[in-house]
Amino acid sequence: MANESSAREHWSGGLGFILAAAGSAIGLGNIWKFPYITGENGGGAFVLVYLLCITVIGVPVMLCEITLGRHTQRNPVGAFRMLNPPVSRLAHLIGLCMVTLGLVLLAFREWGWGVATLGLGLAVFKYGWVLVGGLGVVAGFCILSFYSVVAGWTVGYTWKAMAGQLNFTDIPTAEAAFGAFIVDPWWAIGCHAVFMLLCILIVYRGVRAGIERWSKILMPVLFGILVVLIVRGLTLPGAMAGVQFYLSPDFSKLTTNSILIALGHAFFSLSLGMGAIMTYGSYVGKNQNLFLSTLSIVVLDTLVALMAGLAMFPAVFAKGFNPAVGPGLVFQVLPTVFAHIPFGAFWATIFFILLLVAALTSGISLLEVVTAYFVDERKWTRHRATVVFGIVIFLLGSLCAISVTGWERLPRLHDVLVATFGSVKGSFFDVMDNLASNWMLPLGGLFISLFVGWIWGTKRAVDEIRQGSHNFADVHLISLLAGLKDDPGHNDPRHVITLASLWGIFIRFISPVAVLIAFLNTIGWLDLTKKKSAPPPPPPAIEQAEPAQESVEP
Ligand code: TRP
Repeated sequence: MANESSAREHWSGGLGFILAAAGSAIGLGNIWKFPYITGENGGGAFVLVYLLCITVIGVPVMLCEITLGRHTQRNPVGAFRMLNPPVSRLAHLIGLCMVTLGLVLLAFREWGWGVATLGLGLAVFKYGWVLVGGLGVVAGFCILSFYSVVAGWTVGYTWKAMAGQLNFTDIPTAEAAFGAFIVDPWWAIGCHAVFMLLCILIVYRGVRAGIERWSKILMPVLFGILVVLIVRGLTLPGAMAGVQFYLSPDFSKLTTNSILIALGHAFFSLSLGMGAIMTYGSYVGKNQNLFLSTLSIVVLDTLVALMAGLAMFPAVFAKGFNPAVGPGLVFQVLPTVFAHIPFGAFWATIFFILLLVAALTSGISLLEVVTAYFVDERKWTRHRATVVFGIVIFLLGSLCAISVTGWERLPRLHDVLVATFGSVKGSFFDVMDNLASNWMLPLGGLFISLFVGWIWGTKRAVDEIRQGSHNFADVHLISLLAGLKDDPGHNDPRHVITLASLWGIFIRFISPVAVLIAFLNTIGWLDLTKKKSAPPPPPPAIEQAEPAQESVEP
């Protein structure tokens, strides 16, 4: 094993790892989704809740993933295989519950769900915790297949922006153009192919020469573009209304549902729950400070999310448009806004390059999970694994690409799914998104924290974290806050409130419970939002996004 881990490629240093992991975390989630869910859920009030979720759940779970990765020096499946206990009562209990549930479902003639649950339950008996790693690899396939379709749209829109084709005069025109764009199979599949090709090319080169090198180039580019866009937006007359809309706290818009949205988004945004960060962690050397790396990654991710809103809303308001919610904001409202600004084609181009860069560094982390699994566990070469699975994901993604708006182009697949599962919600694209974001990531996160907290044990985890952390883990928290960190009298090991002990409590109790509650709520077994009679959902926001009355346009 010793020579296996020394043969493994590693990041050249702490910065390489932090930028690569931040690149994974910073993605479409930050730039496309965070601003509009913040706008919808009470602005600054939502940001506070989000920060709380990030601190209480995001940071501890991320530290778990990085620690598991670095300790085992393996992909997620290999990591769990290495640490899987011969007998785990918790795993057996979960397996038993699933087998029972599967049988009950079969008794109710829910064949598809019944067989799936029963099969998974039996697999839990056979593979134990290794299944959590397997779930991560499968999630990598699913997420990248739909993620790269949206990323493909950014490729297409970058192209169109450069060609000056995005000069829409009003929102309905932009809407129609976008609608025509995503249903055109040549554009949709072609752009998706270009994006997957870029991912393959980078991952193909390996950890240092591919992922790290490109993260070190692309992350500063991303940051630079964001700053330029923020300055541009804020200096437009009337921009402050946008800042106010985005960040002024409105606690009345904050519901239980907002809290769950914040939690779910914290997971997705930090790339947690499927072993992407674990895989990157497996390339970290023993001299790195895992606590500080985690904090840096999380801070960068959060900063970029906040900055993304500042890059968009001021310009939207300054030009007198209503901030649309949902995909419309980025692909419809913004191009129209830019068309009303001098040198619009330039601003639109750098904006879509920003989105593309963000998506690219996330896409490579998803492909790397799949690649690492086949390299470590199946002894494939990196080149072969990257190309083969890049193509497999491209094909799966093509199904998503041609079915964003419905099933018309995939009637057979639709019939098969309906026959097995009773009904399907949304398009194939939605099915993949739903499966990954609502099921696999929360379950993955739940099991990763349960595994570290209760099976592998926080003791062993903290021993791993201590390496390279210069006693950081054992710093007495109160002394740290009081500025007495280096005072010998205030670093007595008998003090129990250390960073490590606090982390242990979060990982054993708080994260699993919070994630479980959020998960049961999304799958509808626990309805926390029912009591408040929720107003009917607003009509699709795109339609509301007409230029507002007080337009400052001449
Ligand atoms: N975090 C990315 C975003 O915000 C998406 C992403 C990349 C991701 N890798 C992941 C999400 C792994 C979950 C798991 O867009």
